[in-house]
This record gives sequence, structure tokens and C-alpha cells, in this order.
Amino acid sequence: MNEIVLITGGTGLVGSRLTELLQEKGYKIRYLSRSPGKVKDVEAFVWDVEKQTIDIKAFDGVSYIIHLAGAGVADEKWTPARKKVILESRTRSTALLKDALRDYPNNVKAVISASAIGYYGFDNGDRWQVEGSRFGDDFLATVTKAWEAEADLIRELGIRVVKVRVGVVLSENGGALKEMGKPVKLGLGAPLGSGDQYMSWIHIDDLCNIFIYAMENENMSGSYNGVAPHPVTNRDLTKSIAKEMGKPFFLPAVPSFALKLALGQMAGLLLGSSRVSSERIESEGFKFKYPEIKGALHNLLEN
Ligand SMILES: NC(=O)c1ccc[n+]([C@@H]2O[C@H](COP(=O)([O-])OP(=O)(O)OC[C@H]3O[C@@H](n4cnc5c(N)ncnc54)[C@H](OP(=O)(O)O)[C@@H]3O)[C@@H](O)[C@H]2O)c1
Repeated sequence: MNEIVLITGGTGLVGSRLTELLQEKGYKIRYLSRSPGKVKDVEAFVWDVEKQTIDIKAFDGVSYIIHLAGAGVADEKWTPARKKVILESRTRSTALLKDALRDYPNNVKAVISASAIGYYGFDNGDRWQVEGSRFGDDFLATVTKAWEAEADLIRELGIRVVKVRVGVVLSENGGALKEMGKPVKLGLGAPLGSGDQYMSWIHIDDLCNIFIYAMENENMSGSYNGVAPHPVTNRDLTKSIAKEMGKPFFLPAVPSFALKLALGQMAGLLLGSSRVSSERIESEGFKFKYPEIKGALHNLLEN
């Protein structure tokens, strides 16, 4: 019988591709969603993180849970209310999963939870960040730390837990690449701020394969960075996108103050530097299909 994987936030950018790759491998997919019925071919069950309610039938026969749910970090300006939603959609959803797994009989072997490289903060210059590096002190670092702490509580139920600290996901269907590609397409490609800040990116297929690898590999537990082996600076990334699109890249840099004015605290996401290491996941035997930015962009932008 096909093993069942329950995905939270499965309707999103990462979840949609992960669903395809898991289905190709013969797994049966289920979603926990705020609005089931969004995706036709996947059986979905409802949960309400705010009200802390969940349809426990979702867990029947499930072998693995992949936890991706969380309000979009870059979707809206960071007002105090939005920050609360960003934090609690992650911590309280994880707590809801933990309570359900504690209170209802189940055969879940592992929970693989998303986390983010925001854990390390964005003021690390060109210093490599490994899983044991200290966490940052900005808003996203606080969020990821609290999110991972909730996920760790699931271990106390005797269930294996892996946390994947996801980098900037590059996909042809949305996310950072689509946003960065917009000005480049118009011939307005330019570095942001100094342009020297590191961006630790990952091709969406490599990321989804890390989630699957972590799920299938019983020896893995704890935190792993989900980033490609070769982070690039903002200047090099924008230049590579322009080259792949056959567009110019010669404009002066967008000044930091303009980004700060437009985006407030969120500007730190674009102006801050984060050079994150993939050594730990590689030491588990994981092989990247797209280790270099050139190959990743060529694959994503060729059509
Ligand atoms: N994409 C990136 O570059 C990136 C980088 C670092 C970390 N990550 C992390 O990886 C995970 C997946 O990323 P993604 O890009 O696929 O995210 P996404 O496209 O924004 O999808 C996230 C999913 O979470 C659910 N969700 C949204 N708001 C929610 C809320 N307030 N409460 C509960 N559930 C909510 C939604 O599913 P339903 O509508 O079905 O409920 C949504 O489809 C996220 O947790 C994200 O923080 C992503």
C-alpha cells in the first residue's frame, strides 16, 4: 500500500512542487489547509490555527508529516498585527500538530518542518553560517527560533523531527525570482544597496528533494540548512538573471535608504547578508542537482 504523507501549507509555492515530486515517487498526499478544496486532486482536511481546531481524520494512516504552513513573510508590510500573524501561523500551527499527535492514536514516523535561514539574522557579512551558529536578534530570527522550539517538542512524543532552514527559494512559479526578474525584464536590473550582500538561494526542486530525503532517511534529525552549496552576492545574482534573460545590467545600485523608506524593517531581507553552508545536508549524502546559480537559472528561465 502507498504510504501517506500529510502536508500542511501544501497549497503554497513549495508544497505544490513537493506534492508533484512525492506523487511521482508513489506516495499518497493529503493536505491540512485553512480552505480545503483549493486543489482538486488532493484530499484535504481543515484546520484553524487561530481557533486551534483540527480534523483529526487527517492523521488516519499517515506515515509522515511535512509542515510548511505559515503566513507569507514578504506579502505585506510588517505592522505589529502582521508580525503577530507571521509568528503565530508558525508557532501555533506547530503546537496544534503536536497536541493532535499527542492526543490521538497515530503511526506518524517523522515530522519534517520548514524553518528558515532567517534564524541566523542578516548581519553576518561574508561569514559562513552553519547549523550550530548562533541565532540572530532580529524579528525573523525570533520567529524561526520559536518555530523550531515548538517543533522540537514533537520529539518528546517519540517522533523523529527534522527542521529544514530554507534559503531563498528560486522557482519559475513565483517567490523571489519572479520579483527580482520584474525590473530586469524591463531592462532595469541593478544591485540593491552595496550589492555585496550574500543571498543563500536554492532551486525549488533541490529543496523539495531535501524534504523527501529527510523524510526517507531515518538517520536524520535536528536542523539542516536548505540552501545550495554556492551562495551568491546580490550583484552577482541580479547580473546572472539579466544575462540569462538577455537583458542589460549596468544601472547604478538602488540606494539602501530608498529601500528602507519603501519597505521599513522588511528591507533587511534584501539588504542584509546571509551566507549559509550546505555542508551538513551534503554530509548526509544528499546530492544537489543545481549547486551553481548558472545551472539553476538556466533551468528556471529557459522558457
Ligand atoms: N519561499 C521561500 O523563499 C522561503 C524561504 C524561507 C522559508 N520558507 C518557508 O517555507 C514554507 C513554505 O514556503 P512557501 O514559499 O511554499 O510559502 P507559501 O507559498 O506562502 O505557502 C504557505 C502556505 O501556508 C498556509 N498559510 C498561509 N497563511 C497561513 C496562516 N495565517 N495560518 C496557517 N496557514 C497559513 C497556506 O496554505 P492554505 O491556504 O492551504 O492553508 C499557504 O499555501 C513557509 O513556512 C516559509 O516560511 C520559504
